Amino acid sequence: MKFKLVSKDKKSKARAGEIQTDHGTIQTPIFMPVGTAGSVKAVHQRELTYDVKAQIILGNTYHLYLRPGLEVLEKAGGLHKFIGWSSPILTDSGGYQVFSLEGNRKIKEEGVVFKSHIDGSKHHFTPESVMDIQRTIGADIIMAFDECTPYPCEWSYAKNSMHLTHRWLKRCIERFDSTEGKYGYSQSLFPIVQGSTFKDLRQDAARFVSDQDREGNAIGGLSVGEPAEMMYEMTDLVTDILPEEKPRYLMGVGTPANILESIALGIDMFDCVMPTRNARNGMLFTTEGIINIRNERWKMDFSPIDSGFHSHVSNFYSKAYIRHLTISKEMLAAQIASIHNLSFYLWLVTQARERIQAGDFTSWKNAMVEKVSRRL
Ligand code: GUN
Repeated sequence: MKFKLVSKDKKSKARAGEIQTDHGTIQTPIFMPVGTAGSVKAVHQRELTYDVKAQIILGNTYHLYLRPGLEVLEKAGGLHKFIGWSSPILTDSGGYQVFSLEGNRKIKEEGVVFKSHIDGSKHHFTPESVMDIQRTIGADIIMAFDECTPYPCEWSYAKNSMHLTHRWLKRCIERFDSTEGKYGYSQSLFPIVQGSTFKDLRQDAARFVSDQDREGNAIGGLSVGEPAEMMYEMTDLVTDILPEEKPRYLMGVGTPANILESIALGIDMFDCVMPTRNARNGMLFTTEGIINIRNERWKMDFSPIDSGFHSHVSNFYSKAYIRHLTISKEMLAAQIASIHNLSFYLWLVTQARERIQAGDFTSWKNAMVEKVSRRL
């Protein structure tokens, strides 16, 4: 993997770049649709490529390990071949998923013992096993096994948790560097900065992670219930420390406004279930603001979902029609809404990149944040 900085904004920390992987080049800043179990819910791969214009998608170690399991994935020749996606893939390590199994997991120095949400069966994840699993899944970018600290959390808990994440990171690196990709292309391991909402811990974590000198770095443990201002403050502190010449990934973020503000703080990569999950509940993100399509207001509105940018489903289907589909619980509602929301997210980051390159990112961003945050 290679990262090239293409252009830097003068008034903020925003940058435009390119990540080269063996499955193609990703233009940053980028949003990665979440395809937890080998599927971006309600959107198939051809739509992801041609409608959404996704350049990279995300998979989850926890889900893929449980189902379809490593035997199937290895026999298929890895996740790309199994799902028919030849562009880049990133897998999250399972840290986040396992820790959200509140009551069904136990954290120890060695790793985590947890119960499957599918059949209650008992499993063990260690930093080593999670590296081996991600070798078998075969994503281009894989994540270190970490503990995502809950919010709020005591300083002493956050400190101990961060140190555990660092000891696990060392073990991840040792295992990753002593193994190879199984399918003939290379993989990169990204470490994760934790430290909850404590400035001193975030700075310690950012320095520790930077010192590992990997090909890219991530920030975790944010967007877990803390106020947005706190998330920006932590992100700002961390991006001041993480090396400039490597991509920075802010995990699990966020709303369109969160993404634009974080681009201004020097973030290059994002993922979030919001555009797909909220689409399935009737929430549409548009260039004019946020729409709850179930609202009576849209009943007779035959205007396109969004005519503010080029996208077939957004320009072609009306608000009244998608409202009808949503209220009638038609499957097509989820499909159209998910494609629309993802297309909008991808359009937004592409615009941000263009504005960074054109030199007027900050004024564009400020106007856009206001527009996309409105509730219509
Ligand atoms: N996704 C969102 N936040 C996190 C995090 O802190 N750790 C991991 N592994 N995944 C995440």
